[in-house]
Amino acid sequence: MRVLLDPRRPARPGAKVSAAELVELYSFPTSRWVRSNFVTTLDGSAVGADGRSGTVNTPPDNRVFALQRDLCDAVLVGSGTVEAEGYERITATRRRAAPPALVVVSGSGRLPEGLRTPWKGRGAGLLVTCTAAGATRLAHCRKALGEDAVLVAGEEHVDLRTALDALAARGLRHVVCEGGPTLLSAILAAGVLDELALSLAPTVVGGAGPRLTDGAPLNPPDGIRLRPHLLLEEAGTLLGLWRVRR
Ligand SMILES: NC(=O)c1ccc[n+]([C@@H]2O[C@H](COP(=O)([O-])OP(=O)(O)OC[C@H]3O[C@@H](n4cnc5c(N)ncnc54)[C@H](OP(=O)(O)O)[C@@H]3O)[C@@H](O)[C@H]2O)c1
Repeated sequence: MRVLLDPRRPARPGAKVSAAELVELYSFPTSRWVRSNFVTTLDGSAVGADGRSGTVNTPPDNRVFALQRDLCDAVLVGSGTVEAEGYERITATRRRAAPPALVVVSGSGRLPEGLRTPWKGRGAGLLVTCTAAGATRLAHCRKALGEDAVLVAGEEHVDLRTALDALAARGLRHVVCEGGPTLLSAILAAGVLDELALSLAPTVVGGAGPRLTDGAPLNPPDGIRLRPHLLLEEAGTLLGLWRVRR
């Protein structure tokens, strides 16, 4: 892997990145932080022909995906992605004995199978939902996961700012949002995204796959501005960090 752009070290374009440097480059600031991690094809699809991201990602993208899981406190993910990708509570790795929490967002209180199974050696599993899920569903989720594992934030939709405050209050301050497009749009609309980690896989797939955002156009109408913070390359995959301009 080599550096194409690292504003903190402008004299280094083309330099190889060691494993230790990669950790440093993807480490979180000390402050609370929300980073969303995505991969898309060059023609902007977030999925391959099978409707999953696994068919568009690449070995270098997989590496930074796993690294970011090792560096964060919590992985935030929408229930659509949990279903499409078959998410489960996160297992420990060689680098990290205590896995991050898996936090699933579902306004309707869908309870994914992967959250239910309290396997030994896996991180915590939390469900973030809202009042609109209804008392019966909330009671069902609490019974299945435990009182403390169900966070209610917002009335009609999940209020992501409130949800992230509640996670931070539990010590989950560095959050990687692994999508999908609906959740990323909601996070952008709520103004709580700090950084986008985006890998561009060197492929085009055509079709009508989702982009990395979905839903209504975001405000302001001329777009939310980000600035490049890091750009790496390996075997044709471009891996970048883009910070939201405040
Ligand atoms: N390329 C990549 O890096 C990547 C990453 C992730 C996902 N994907 C792909 O994206 C597709 C899934 O897309 P998606 O947009 O359906 O997934 P999603 O954002 O993971 O899930 C959407 C669901 O999340 C819940 N949700 C999100 N924001 C909410 C809010 N503010 N309030 C209440 N509920 C909220 C809702 O759940 P309920 O309906 O349960 O209420 C909503 O239906 C899959 O094909 C997946 O493979 C690709």
